[in-house]
Amino acid sequence: MTNKDEPIKIIVIGDVVGRAGRKCLKELLPKLRSQFAADLVIVNGENTAGGFGITKKIFLQLTKEFGISAITTGNHWHDKKEIYSFKDQYENLLIPANMYNVDKESKGYCLLPIRDKKIALINLTGRVFMKGENRCPFETFDKIYDLLKDQTKTFIVDFHGEATSEKQAFAQYVRGRCSLLYGTHTHCPTADERIFDHSMGFVTDVGMTGSYDSVIGVKTSASLGFFLGKGKAKFEPSNLEPWLCALLCSIDLSSGKCLDLKRERMKFADHATDDLATPKTYAMPSS
Ligand SMILES: [Fe+2]
Ligand SMILES: [Fe+2]
Repeated sequence: MTNKDEPIKIIVIGDVVGRAGRKCLKELLPKLRSQFAADLVIVNGENTAGGFGITKKIFLQLTKEFGISAITTGNHWHDKKEIYSFKDQYENLLIPANMYNVDKESKGYCLLPIRDKKIALINLTGRVFMKGENRCPFETFDKIYDLLKDQTKTFIVDFHGEATSEKQAFAQYVRGRCSLLYGTHTHCPTADERIFDHSMGFVTDVGMTGSYDSVIGVKTSASLGFFLGKGKAKFEPSNLEPWLCALLCSIDLSSGKCLDLKRERMKFADHATDDLATPKTYAMPSS
């Protein structure tokens, strides 16, 4: 087997939330990348900028400084309005192809060159419990798949959705056509990674990379205030207990089959959290 025939190794990271998430990428990703001998890293960047959206500076940090090959997003893609000024400059910045406020379907996919082949990366969003009149992800996938299937056998999909059932239904719909399908958006990793038909890797949600002493990455005080009916305080990302959550996937490029799929969870070393930590006690927001 020549190097060109060896499976490619891909690290997938779900929603990266705020500074804690970016710090995890900076400190932990190099270690994971070298341990796994990864060829590619794909990250969902919809929460990288203060928990809401992505800026050009952060996009360039992720892609140029951290060497991440492509950034997918989700419902928070446009929280930072500056994205409108740079989203069309970068093919490796994806926005869900079927999202109601995305006019160009082509922003939802790209072809990543690897060795003498290409990988199709597609970003979609769910419709169940998601805001907006999103177009059908099933039909959108069919359309993009038909467009790209003569150029590659390797299809990877980030399905950004809230409902477990919708993600699993989508998995059943695309099995046989995808190499890897993973869910993002819930910010909570699921322990159900498996390979369908020795061919398509799937996990319902990769989970976030960010603070896990929080409520899906948001500071506890603000989130609790909201759930206790004390009004909506400003949602800010927490910095407590950052974890990096990832999927490690091996794919045979000539067949497009997923050969191996594992979850990985790395905690920040305690000493490394010092410059991120905020006091662990919190005050309830007043009503
Ligand atoms: Fe998110
Ligand atoms: Fe989201």
